[in-house]
Amino acid sequence: KQENVCETQVLVLPFPVQGHVNPMLQFSKRLVSKGLEVTLLTFTGNKPLAVQDGPVKLEPISDDLEADNLLVESPDAYLERFKAVVTLRLPQIIAKLGMSKSNHSVSCLIYDSVIPWALDIAKQQGLHGAAFFTQSCAVNTIFYNVHEGLLKVPLAAQSSFSIVGLPLLEEYDLPTFVYDIGAYPALTHLSVNQFLNFRKADWVLVNTFTSLEEEVLSWMGSLRSIKTIGPTIPSKYLDKRLEDDKDYGIHLFKPEIDICNNWLNSKETGSVVYVSFGSLAALGEEQMKDLALGLKGSNSYFLWVVRETEKKKLPANFLEESSEKGLVVSWSPQLEVLAHKAVGCFMTHCGWNSTLEALSLGVPMVAVPQFSDQTTNAKLVADVWQVGIRARMDDKGIITKEEIERCIREIMGGDKSKAIKWNSDKWKKLAVQAVNEGGSSDKNIDEFVAQLRCK
Ligand code: UDX
Repeated sequence: KQENVCETQVLVLPFPVQGHVNPMLQFSKRLVSKGLEVTLLTFTGNKPLAVQDGPVKLEPISDDLEADNLLVESPDAYLERFKAVVTLRLPQIIAKLGMSKSNHSVSCLIYDSVIPWALDIAKQQGLHGAAFFTQSCAVNTIFYNVHEGLLKVPLAAQSSFSIVGLPLLEEYDLPTFVYDIGAYPALTHLSVNQFLNFRKADWVLVNTFTSLEEEVLSWMGSLRSIKTIGPTIPSKYLDKRLEDDKDYGIHLFKPEIDICNNWLNSKETGSVVYVSFGSLAALGEEQMKDLALGLKGSNSYFLWVVRETEKKKLPANFLEESSEKGLVVSWSPQLEVLAHKAVGCFMTHCGWNSTLEALSLGVPMVAVPQFSDQTTNAKLVADVWQVGIRARMDDKGIITKEEIERCIREIMGGDKSKAIKWNSDKWKKLAVQAVNEGGSSDKNIDEFVAQLRCK
């Protein structure tokens, strides 16, 4: 620790879905590696599989707010319950940790940008506040445009939308919460309201990196200073020479680690299609059937993550009939899988973490977006970074078995596959550069830490 600096304590408050907990936990680990004391608030109580202790201290805030039921329960009811619990408990925890005003230490709450009201609590308690945006700057910018009335919702009937810093977007390239505001009004609200007080936050941190989103970051940066700090992927996956800090994580589901690794170890380099739709997306039964038949028909090896709650949608006898070619697990150690040499492509829903993970590990993607920001990420993957292709729906909104097969063939060895692999390798190098010592994200993290210490 440097001399003449006051104690700096950081409290991290993610929204409790896997896709938000992961990047905020990984960022917390980075801060610890830079010498800060960091406590991450957890929502999973004492369930043993969820929490393993490590250099980041963990503090339970509630044990019945895991949001895998966010979409099952009504989002409105969930969000109301969430706010009530956090508003009550957060000041108590701040006091317990000795972080409040009366103490001489410097303290900061890093809060998930989707809960902007957490900044008010931080300020009332005398803490600094840093908003952490878990999604791409492109997506943030679209929601900012909606917030400011620059992009009106419901959308006008027009063929494309022009937003500064972004390529021309068609309706279906926008986040679903923008073009389909009736589906989850509470989540549209949540996404747009990230910008309620974003000028008042002491810092704005975004899980992306400069060279990936240069133009749109520069536009966003003209509104207020922001710091890119991503990709928040443990360095050992990015650079095999690095022995990372103890690699622990918080899995809200139980990964089938040995089963995946053993199966992948038995496959040839680049021969496996890895398929996952993240922690929330639920496919319709017909879509599930076409996907299953498409994977089988592709004749490639596949490792498919089908969450326990989704398994009932698999076609009858699918598991038995495809066991020679395919492995179906209910949750995988995704970073390990993507870093495995047997994996040739990733059929993904394009959640921002999955997208960043594949891009940073150089794995070409077949984009099968479901909802939320995934549609926009899919557009960027296919047309801007050109590290994958986007599967197309038919008139009934289904990605057919034939389309699945076509996409797999194309990405694994079709005309575009070489160029896509070349681009994937290029972005991988740039991602590693950003987080390695002296890279853009690393410098921003150092700056953030230094500013925290001087506040
Ligand atoms: C959600 C949203 O859906 C997403 O669009 C948004 O950007 C973030 O929040 P989710 O759908 O779960 O997240 O997707 P994603 O962002 O990809 O996050 C999933 C995380 O779980 C990734 O870090 C991935 O590595 C991990 N994962 C996924 C596993 O560890 N094992 C799995 O089997 C599947």
